[in-house]
Amino acid sequence: MRTKFSLLQAVAGVALGVVALAPAQAQESVKIGLILPMTGGQASTGKQIDNAIKLYMQQNGDSVAGRKIEVILKDDAAVPDNTKRLAQELIVNDKVNFIAGFGVTPAALAAAPLATEAKIPEIVMAAGTSIITERSPYIVRTSFTLAQSSTIIGDWAVKNGIKKVATLTSDYAPGNDALKFFKEHFAAGGGEIVEEVKVPLANPDFAPFLQRMKDSKPDAMFVFVPAGQGGNFMKQYAERGLDKAGIKVIGPGDVMDDDVLNGMGDAALGTVTAHLYSAAHPSQMNKDFVAAYKKAFSNRPGFMAVSGYDGIHLIYQALKKTGGKTDGDALIEAMKGMKWESPRGPISIDPETRDIVQNIYIRKVEKVDGELYNVEFQTFEAVKDAGKTKK
Ligand code: PHB
Repeated sequence: MRTKFSLLQAVAGVALGVVALAPAQAQESVKIGLILPMTGGQASTGKQIDNAIKLYMQQNGDSVAGRKIEVILKDDAAVPDNTKRLAQELIVNDKVNFIAGFGVTPAALAAAPLATEAKIPEIVMAAGTSIITERSPYIVRTSFTLAQSSTIIGDWAVKNGIKKVATLTSDYAPGNDALKFFKEHFAAGGGEIVEEVKVPLANPDFAPFLQRMKDSKPDAMFVFVPAGQGGNFMKQYAERGLDKAGIKVIGPGDVMDDDVLNGMGDAALGTVTAHLYSAAHPSQMNKDFVAAYKKAFSNRPGFMAVSGYDGIHLIYQALKKTGGKTDGDALIEAMKGMKWESPRGPISIDPETRDIVQNIYIRKVEKVDGELYNVEFQTFEAVKDAGKTKK
């Protein structure tokens, strides 16, 4: 009996020891739960962000303030129910200190209440609907908003003799933001919308709508499709002869994403878009970034890659500021107002909204050394999101 008792005690003692040790061990590495669409229609977004984070960690090491950084990648295929379940598992089972990624707006929104409840930062590296940062005080965004670029291209269109526009936008939250902010600015300058079409997010077939666009005889068509769909859109646009009919594409730069732009052919030449990033951005930092990314992954980085690269940089810098402490409130405070030089140009985190402030460039597709690039020709500096409902 006695032996048994002490054995139990010993077992309990070992177990207690394990329990007591566990938190200390868990503190050794900082865990980032990275939720991205690695499969499905948005997989190019997931791939770009995952690549960029790997590149950043190769260049900057995998520890910060004495703590090892561990990234746990999960594929949600851009399905918000998956995002929610994966975020829950990462928070409860893996005890992650950050959740990050989110390839589409519904995914970022699905995770928001979980970040609030767990009091851990949610770093949005892709999604672009304005309201996202308002859904949790723990959300910080390093991507963009559609309002940032759609307002600017709306103003540009009226100033450049475009009077009639047909719109084609992806039928979900960021498409609706793009349309709303473009229309506000275009109409304020006297522009007229002659046709308005919304296409489904999943596997859109543009062909049936393109004939309608052509028949409405616009000066240009305003297009928002999410990253990954631009190549397919431009193929169908050329097949239907809209380029030959002289109907130029304008819009936020998602449709001209650098990772697919070079495969679009001459139909893309002359396309003017407003956006946060071009692989042809002429800074030394960007030249180095593009060269390193191409060397590692045999492809050009696009705007999603840069948003991921800046997202992991933000996490590293915040941890440096807190001395490696992972208290969520302290990390969010550390991120507010942070400024740095990105491959896209100078950026910062608005301390009031936790949203990104960045330059928006107007660019035109041109051939440079035989390849298609978005060549920047006008810069709007330090653009804040115009779409906040409250401050
Ligand atoms: C979004 O879902 O918010 C989103 C996704 C891809 C884009 C832009 C916005 O290119």
